[in-house]
Amino acid sequence: MRQGLILLMILLLSSLLVVSCGKKGKDMSEMAMEEAPAAEEVMSDADEITKMAAMPGADAGELWNFITETSPYKEWSYWPDYEGYQPGNSPHGAILRVFVDEHGMANIADDMKSSMDNGVVIVKENFMPDTTLAALTVMYKVEGFNPEVGDWFWAKYSPDGTVAASGTPAGCIGCHGGVAANDYLFTGDVGADGAGDMEEEHEHDDDEKHED
Ligand code: HEC
Repeated sequence: MRQGLILLMILLLSSLLVVSCGKKGKDMSEMAMEEAPAAEEVMSDADEITKMAAMPGADAGELWNFITETSPYKEWSYWPDYEGYQPGNSPHGAILRVFVDEHGMANIADDMKSSMDNGVVIVKENFMPDTTLAALTVMYKVEGFNPEVGDWFWAKYSPDGTVAASGTPAGCIGCHGGVAANDYLFTGDVGADGAGDMEEEHEHDDDEKHED
């Protein structure tokens, strides 16, 4: 009888041990789960660094390779609320499409932004009235390239990549200078709250704007 009691005690103790070990195991897995996002952050930092390393210099040839091979612009997004073929204004051709890279899309959606970050690339396809591609015009933000006028590197290419103009063409800067307060961009506001001088010009309907 007494032996039975001792056996019961042992059983009870060992089951307690198992329960507490189990609990410890769970705590550790919870800790591992809490650490997981940190690991992801490290990953995206690494991705960012890799991407920065792959970014072209302020050079029309390097920029062409980037938008056609490294990160083909047709895989980017259209400027929000300006999707697909759009009627264009002089001098950019009758029809156009405006592509924005992932970084630029994030800046457009960010309430805190009134200008684009370094590294953002915007590509505009310019078509003839019969939808033949006539030229590509590109704006690429390069830190320290041209700080007085927004650090944009400007380039114009024929469809085969031949450079028609690049760097700081007075024509591009002169006309886009009219929207300097919106980081020299005509198509839409930078920052989802509509910071920049486009605000006064547009009829502003927040329900309709930038929903995706
Ligand atoms: C006479 C004015 C004018 C000149 C010159 C001009 N642009 Fe533009 N650009 C515009 C307008 C207006 C838009 C908005 C789209 C449209 O309606 O054609 C635009 C749009 C763009 C866009 C899309 C991003 C944005 O600002 O909305 C790019 C990229 C661009 N232009 C590049 C260039 C480059 C490169 C040059 C020089 C080779 C140039 N532009 C010269 C008026 C001009």
